[in-house]
Amino acid sequence: MPKVYVAGKIQDNGIELLKRKGFKVDLNLTDKDLTREELKDIFSKYDAVITMPTDNVDSDLLSSASKNLKVIANYAVGYDNIDERAAKKSDIVVCNTPGVANEAVAEHTFAMIFALNKQLKVADRFVREGNFKQWDPNAFLSHQLWGQTIGIIGLGRIGTFVGQIAFGGFKMHILYFDIARSEDFELLCEAEYTDMRSVLSLSDIVTLHVPLTTDTRGMISTEELKLMKKTALLINTSRGPVIDEKALIWALKEKEIAGAGLDVYEHEPEVSAELIKMSNVILTPHTASATIETRERMSELVAQNIIDVFEGREPVGLVN
Ligand code: GLV
Repeated sequence: MPKVYVAGKIQDNGIELLKRKGFKVDLNLTDKDLTREELKDIFSKYDAVITMPTDNVDSDLLSSASKNLKVIANYAVGYDNIDERAAKKSDIVVCNTPGVANEAVAEHTFAMIFALNKQLKVADRFVREGNFKQWDPNAFLSHQLWGQTIGIIGLGRIGTFVGQIAFGGFKMHILYFDIARSEDFELLCEAEYTDMRSVLSLSDIVTLHVPLTTDTRGMISTEELKLMKKTALLINTSRGPVIDEKALIWALKEKEIAGAGLDVYEHEPEVSAELIKMSNVILTPHTASATIETRERMSELVAQNIIDVFEGREPVGLVN
């Protein structure tokens, strides 16, 4: 009976699916990430491991894998935490959970846009602190989203959903940049494909939906932030290191941009004390994909990926 280790608390449906298929499933029942030593021990004993995006699966960890370890199923769309090439060299299949977080992350992106644009944090504090004495026709004025330009950097599945909400919901003008152009998206959302400089300099809101790779690490730094409008907002629900956080803090302090919505951080889970102090920044703890629907679909997909590998099929989430 193949043994699967689940490195974090995931929804039950995937675990049940594995058990029904005859796998023996062991769980990390603590709320803590596994230590490196614990991971090494698990990699040396199990046939499949469901890893969390916080587990650093590098070549050193992979060198402790037993000959029986066939598959690492990452409980995330992103798989920048896994050295998938080193895994391939050891004949270990790496899988992710594509396509199941689109709605959740796109909704979170808009939650951040609303919160920043409507100054919800500051307005809420204003009321709680007893400052709402009379209706003020000029209090908390903001611009409506209708008619604004949104710039999408990275037009994968999530970026496409963001575009659909922006166009379908708010008739926003869409600029986008990706390594590949999508004429379908342009037709569907009246979007305009352009280069990254133009996306940055012409958009009222810039939102990032790229994977973390050697090309995208530090992609948004001082020069890119200087290109943005002083009134613009920057949203990041992708991976923290895509933004040079020092440069972002500088840009926010110098009012080079108006605000930022961050779900991910350069040195996660550490969050800069300077960002924490800023009222024009909204911060969430890497929870953009945290809907029950998405987590259940992720759980089912990690399980199905493992089952597919063991039953000789190509898994939907194959990455290497
Ligand atoms: C979460 O960050 C994911 O990649 O699914």
